[in-house]
Amino acid sequence: KPYVLGVDIGGTNTVFGIVDARGQVIASDSIKTQKHTNFDDYIAELHDGVMRLLNAHDAEDKIHGIGIGAPNGNYYTGEIQNPPNLPWGPIVPLAEKVSKAFGGVPVAVTNDANAAALGEMTYGAARGMKDFIMITLGTGVGSGIVVNGQLVYGHDGFAGELGHITVKRNNGRICGCGRTGCLEAYCSATGVARTAREFLEIRTEPSILRNLQIEDITSKDVYDAAVAGDKLAKEIFDYTGTILGQAFADMVAFSSPQAIILFGGLAKSGELLMRPLKESFEKSLFPIYRGKTKILLSELKESDAAVLGASALGWEAKYRYEGV
Ligand code: BGC
Ligand code: NA
Ligand code: ZN
Repeated sequence: KPYVLGVDIGGTNTVFGIVDARGQVIASDSIKTQKHTNFDDYIAELHDGVMRLLNAHDAEDKIHGIGIGAPNGNYYTGEIQNPPNLPWGPIVPLAEKVSKAFGGVPVAVTNDANAAALGEMTYGAARGMKDFIMITLGTGVGSGIVVNGQLVYGHDGFAGELGHITVKRNNGRICGCGRTGCLEAYCSATGVARTAREFLEIRTEPSILRNLQIEDITSKDVYDAAVAGDKLAKEIFDYTGTILGQAFADMVAFSSPQAIILFGGLAKSGELLMRPLKESFEKSLFPIYRGKTKILLSELKESDAAVLGASALGWEAKYRYEGV
């Protein structure tokens, strides 16, 4: 049986899986994305990890295509360019290097959030939807915009970088991309941690977050504190959700999606995030859109969505290569 390899390169973890023609992830594993600042070393480790999986499943020479979702991944060139949260750059020839490492197997690359959108469209919450926006809330904030059943790539292949729209014009936080005031600087997992540090410095009320080392606070710590009833931690989620809701309302005006679908670590914060998000979303929408656009959670297992989406690209790479 032929398989493809789906790879999701995240700011923290790289997840890879062997996927069959029916969309079953038959085996998957992960490596730490940032362990190697040298890109060739990273590729070598990825190759080792994949080989281990393949050997264990006796599928060694059955990988017919590889699909990869990566931050700042470009569908047209197969490169990663200037990734804000990765140590490599400015231009990383991802498709070329991976294909070489795997003995010439055809490789297709896209943005990681685009891959998640493909996964959701094929196997998850967006099945049957022609217009939706996928938003990934992880180390960074990514998006995949689907219009009329097609991912939007734009003239240069970089369409859908909604994590870097400006949500604060004055005194905005510095973003990993070098600009200020980006959505990602506020509403990613790292953005939530930054909000926590800011709040703890400016505010005086007690909070269990004060028991932690301030530089080490993560969004998970804020989540745990909020669940335990900590008022300041809940306010951090209110702040995050409000900004996110306003940004989503603006996004709706671009393409009038049926739904905005959330994926990634922060998306699992439940009502803590959803309540303020939905409230500010509805309030901020251009009136003709009110009450029409749903905000949904991904229906795919975290590790699967982007791997499955990437695997769809892997099949595409295989057929393109074979001229089908
Ligand atoms: C990158 C996007 C990516 C997102 C999530 C952003 O910083 O610019 O390309 O989709 O992070 O990884
Ligand atoms: Na995108
Ligand atoms: Zn930015």
